[in-house]
Amino acid sequence: MTELNKDIQALREKKAVVEMGGGEAAIEKQAAMGKLTARERILSLVDANSFHEYDMFVKHDGRDFGMDKKDFPGDGVVTGTGAIFGAPVCIYAQDFTVAGGSLGLQHARKITKIMDHALKMKCPIIGINDSGGARIQEGVQALAGYGEIFYRNTIASGVVPQISLILGPCAGGAVYSPALTDFVFVVENISKMFITGPNVIKTVLGEDISMEDLGGARVHAEVTGNAHFWARSEQECFEQIKRLVSFIPWNNAERARSIAPAEPLAGLNIETIVPADPRQPYDVRDVIRATVDSSDFLEVHELWAANIVTGFGRMHGETVGFVANQPMVLAGVLDCDSSDKAARFIRFCDSFNIPIITLEDMPGYLPGVDQEHAGVIRHGAKVLYAYSEATVPKITVILRKAYGGGYIAMNSRHLGADFMFAWPGAEIAVMGPEGAAGIIFRKEIMEAADPDAMRQEKVKEYIEKFANPFVAASKGFIDSVIEPRETRSMLLHALRLSAGKEEFRPAKKHGLPPF
Ligand code: HXC
Repeated sequence: MTELNKDIQALREKKAVVEMGGGEAAIEKQAAMGKLTARERILSLVDANSFHEYDMFVKHDGRDFGMDKKDFPGDGVVTGTGAIFGAPVCIYAQDFTVAGGSLGLQHARKITKIMDHALKMKCPIIGINDSGGARIQEGVQALAGYGEIFYRNTIASGVVPQISLILGPCAGGAVYSPALTDFVFVVENISKMFITGPNVIKTVLGEDISMEDLGGARVHAEVTGNAHFWARSEQECFEQIKRLVSFIPWNNAERARSIAPAEPLAGLNIETIVPADPRQPYDVRDVIRATVDSSDFLEVHELWAANIVTGFGRMHGETVGFVANQPMVLAGVLDCDSSDKAARFIRFCDSFNIPIITLEDMPGYLPGVDQEHAGVIRHGAKVLYAYSEATVPKITVILRKAYGGGYIAMNSRHLGADFMFAWPGAEIAVMGPEGAAGIIFRKEIMEAADPDAMRQEKVKEYIEKFANPFVAASKGFIDSVIEPRETRSMLLHALRLSAGKEEFRPAKKHGLPPF
């Protein structure tokens, strides 16, 4: 064997040791839980033969609690670059088989190095998280590492898309980097996210709770809203990520890639989806599917705050973001959670050059002590802020009800909508006819010989006067009253016209959204 061959042989052996992570027993334990290893996860996600690993031979510099005698292969994290659909991505995957994927300073430095790379090269960052949090033996070094990651998450926000997968127990600091990223993916039975685990809760509060009930996949997909996508298996999660990245641009200076245009599927008739009776619910996603290319709609935050629908579709091959009230859930009202959901999605679209189409059918903000005390004023204001701030093309279609604060909030002309369309059955007013008549005609109704008949007459009067799109159209607040079947062609027209849209804002360091 020549000298060169010996060196190559030694390199291969060294790599093989690192690639075994925490060893066979630990890998088997992962597999028994339905979990792939860190490298398997990366290879499942990126294009074949595209992964280049960095920093395989980085070593931790812990000296306390026996750390000086321990070797953690790769310091518990695999980092590198790969490609998805042929375009570069930066990626890291924590390796739970090595010290529970816990984060020490060198582990963190590997992550921040690949994040810096992503920011310079302007490509997405994908983080696969599976970690017991700050490495306890390293003390403040581990905390420093987290801080440096959070800082980069924040600096990269709005510049390159950031995607987090929660593929294991993510405890303590391990949850805050995902929380700062754009999209979080969880997998049933595998993902756990919490700040303090069940053991600490038991010690401090004396309460027994399982990891699943505390912060399992469903908890974060349905209750907290921390997760945007929920999957049954890791493989399904990887497919969801590929689908998401097919809709979004690689950075804030680019547009999402366009694909061949296609018509919506023939089976969906937009004219029959919305019932004429304003009290009848329907699924607004059917209106979206009847509008977008190939009826292909990717919902974001599907399981959380379902009274509003957010997600991506394509119009003539180009990505657009949809924000739509969902009359099927709580009549499509805005409340604290749905306001947060909408505002966040609008800001993502605005950061990444994605036009926003708003479909409106809602009775306003949700009334009640619970909502008031939960801060519906502050949360609701986020929607006003996000729409007003956004400079991407903004188009609204009022399908049916547009009452009160809802009319203003759902991308009205007054918040800067570029195009406002309304269907002929649209009702635009300060509040619903029953409520409105009860207030402004209270005296007449009370004093009438037949109050019920008088109430009905006044409700009818109010509907005739205000519950239609023509008063708003007469003021120029609505550009066109259109037939439902014209919706797609009018949206395509508006998108074509606004392809070169430029809108400026006064110079400032940054605004103060109602966080
Ligand atoms: C060092 C850790 C670790 C940690 C796990 N390990 N977490 N080592 N620091 N934070 C090690 C374990 O010692 C064990 O090593 C191996 O990883 C696997 O862990 P197990 O406990 O055997 O696994 P499991 O039963 O699956 O439980 C996983 C777990 C649990 C739920 C994550 O390990 C756990 O509760 N860990 C601590 C979580 C936590 O409180 N983290 C917060 C840190 S403070 P061996 O050698 O036995 O295989 C923090 C603050 C930052 O993060 C705040 C920033 C804002």
